[in-house]
Amino acid sequence: MVRGSVQMKKLLVVLSGLVLFGCSEQSRLSSTPTPNAAPRATPNPGSNQTPGGPGLRSLAKHLYIGTGVAAPALGTEPYTSTLANEYNMAIAENVGKMRAVEAREGVFDFEAQDALVRFATVHNMKMQGGPLIWAPAIPDWMNEYRGNTAELTSIMTTYITTVMQHYSTKFPGVIIAWEVVNEATTSGLGVFSAVPNCVELAFRTARAADPNVALFYNDYGDETSGGTATKVHNLVAPLKQKGLVDAVGFQSHFATHNAPTMSAIKAAMESLGAIGLDVYVTEFDFSLPSANGTTPDNPDDLLTQATYYRDYLETCMATPNCKQFITWGFTDAHSWIPKFRKGSGAALPFDVNYNKKPAYYGMQDALSRAAAR
Ligand code: XIL
Repeated sequence: MVRGSVQMKKLLVVLSGLVLFGCSEQSRLSSTPTPNAAPRATPNPGSNQTPGGPGLRSLAKHLYIGTGVAAPALGTEPYTSTLANEYNMAIAENVGKMRAVEAREGVFDFEAQDALVRFATVHNMKMQGGPLIWAPAIPDWMNEYRGNTAELTSIMTTYITTVMQHYSTKFPGVIIAWEVVNEATTSGLGVFSAVPNCVELAFRTARAADPNVALFYNDYGDETSGGTATKVHNLVAPLKQKGLVDAVGFQSHFATHNAPTMSAIKAAMESLGAIGLDVYVTEFDFSLPSANGTTPDNPDDLLTQATYYRDYLETCMATPNCKQFITWGFTDAHSWIPKFRKGSGAALPFDVNYNKKPAYYGMQDALSRAAAR
């Protein structure tokens, strides 16, 4: 407790001493609808506010503020009420992936993702769908597929059309943006690299399946310039000219040792804006060195993390084409980092016991200041 309050004082000093970016008053949501910041249609009993202040979503007037959702935790508390109170957007962390949806040829299992979409509907949240094509999530039967190219092409296009139309028909208007292709420049396209013009075909198929949703390409390392950012730019620019893509996702899995500067991120957002594309921050987390994966080895890192959360959210809000800001989970109790990056963790705004961390207050601060303007 004592440590917590000392940290909070330090945080307030850090936050109050930093210069803020200017924030445009114009609506920043051209290709996606306005997020509904009003109280939820079916509120949790009691209040729209979590203890200690209004939920992030009630402050996010012109922004989708979202999180990846660990489907197995949905329905458990306090996971569920925190999700509903704080966020106006969600994406399934795993149950929307190909490996989950079409684990067996021709058998589509939508149940787990449908449960999340129903939850989003009840709580007046919007969703991202997908990823539709992501090499690491291609199910075994597809990877082992030995048919010809035309058959493989049909497996891909049938998947995209079936999944998107399931949601546009059954839950119209909830999934407002689809992650059509993830990590083509970094993880490749797996078995689908045999499909001629695979990425363009995926986007063309998605556009035809539902012309009313935003389509985006997602990757990591595209948050700055050069390297992957250049490859992504070269991939999406021709697609944009053909009217097939609306936005680029910046995964943003950052850590103390590799987090880009805000000016580099802003420049990357603006260079995509210059060719008419929106940017979504799709999977932000900020890992700290952590032996147990949930508490930081050095508690002072929580302040560095808080400042970064605040600044990244502010950078997004100060850049007109940045429309969605999503973290990859919200509690350190459900985060992919400790499993995938040994010795790291504590990357999210709520701790393992769902206490708000300094990072949470960093986001709250950024949103309140923008809302006050
Ligand atoms: C991760 C999930 O968080 C894990 O639970 C799963 O085991 C593997 O995938 N980039 C992405 C996400 O685009 O889909 C990944 O999600 C994390 C890295």
